[in-house]
Amino acid sequence: MKISKINAREILASGGEPSLEVDVTLESGAMGRASVSYGVSAGSKEAFVLVDEDKKRYNGKGMLKAVANVNDKIAAMVVGQNVLEQRKIDQMMIDADGTENKSNLGANAILGVSMAVCRAAAAEEKLELYQYLRQAYQIADKSARYTLPKPLAVFIEGGKHADNSTDLQEYILAVTKEQSARENVRMMEECYKALKKILKQRNLSTNVGNEGAFAPEDIANNELPLELITEAISAAGYKIYDDAGIYIDAAASEFYKDGKYHLATENKVLTAEELIELYLSWQKKYPIICWEDMLSEFDWEHWPILLARSPIPLVADDLTVTNVKLWQKAIDMKAANAILIKLNQAGTVTETVDCCLLANKYNYFTVPSHRGGGETNDSFLVDLAAAVGSKWIKVGPSRGERVAKYNRLMEIEEELNYSNS
Ligand code: PGA
Ligand code: ZN
Repeated sequence: MKISKINAREILASGGEPSLEVDVTLESGAMGRASVSYGVSAGSKEAFVLVDEDKKRYNGKGMLKAVANVNDKIAAMVVGQNVLEQRKIDQMMIDADGTENKSNLGANAILGVSMAVCRAAAAEEKLELYQYLRQAYQIADKSARYTLPKPLAVFIEGGKHADNSTDLQEYILAVTKEQSARENVRMMEECYKALKKILKQRNLSTNVGNEGAFAPEDIANNELPLELITEAISAAGYKIYDDAGIYIDAAASEFYKDGKYHLATENKVLTAEELIELYLSWQKKYPIICWEDMLSEFDWEHWPILLARSPIPLVADDLTVTNVKLWQKAIDMKAANAILIKLNQAGTVTETVDCCLLANKYNYFTVPSHRGGGETNDSFLVDLAAAVGSKWIKVGPSRGERVAKYNRLMEIEEELNYSNS
């Protein structure tokens, strides 16, 4: 059960910039490997991504310092520990770092080890990762049924994820139908292809942005994607609401300046009250069934106003950054009633799971998510979603590092069906 070796290296993430991969090996020979993703429209309070700042390598974005922190400082501490003591190992790294945002050792270094320790433990226990997560954190009984998350696939992206597109960051297909994960994935991809056709018919470009979603240049306004996605659902032969609806992630912190919301595409500057009215008018007109970060992370006072008036759930991402304290604050303030979950915002598996468990305690749902520009092929988030019973996983509809997540989801389903039969 003892950890005998930890080794980190630089790998490439989806944007062609470095990220970190970590191997944890046990005395038994079992091994766990994990890689860490990071975002491009990160919340200001996210755990710290340590980059080299050495302009001669990768324009300063190298991760050799984080690699060295794993191989030297963290390995010195964690080698010899019992791999099954995930909470203890995560806490040791948090304490050794000693900062609120893990800026000393780097959250990328700490998380890489945390995830790889978890995978090595699962291998040692001869369990799938989602089974091991359940066991390690006593989330549910061994015999309890798993409910798998549904696809939440980014279809049109703008904001920081694409040039000359919408001000709002993501227009997403939210699958609602109760059917197998495999059928849900198929339905999602068929809607995505239907959207491509519709964009072409309207002479809009079908270039894709960071997450594999379409990023039509010079799109007329922030409302048009809602019309296009609604049309795509029907064109693919599916029913709005019953089969799928729309989920928006505005990532509103990105267009919030001096207390106002700047919609550059439309040459408009709105107050929070005006923006909320606009959102609610869209919600009446289109099959929008959920939304995220519709207001800025610096605008806490208006979140409860939107939530009180919102007929649909409001998910917090930049507001809560997978941080238990901020999530509890959002719950207490009635600012949000669901949470986006990103492992690297938290910086350890334990803190991430604790955020999910806090949501479950309040009967609020969780949405484990990919990252914009710095995603890796690691599909840890899917196992996490299965372990904690998340409602959706948010992942782009195309590109290898995104579809890896859907493939893992279908693999888990097959494995569960097999073990049930
Ligand atoms: P990011 O964006 O990963 O680029 O920060 C994704 C999101 O805001 O959900
Ligand atoms: Zn977001």
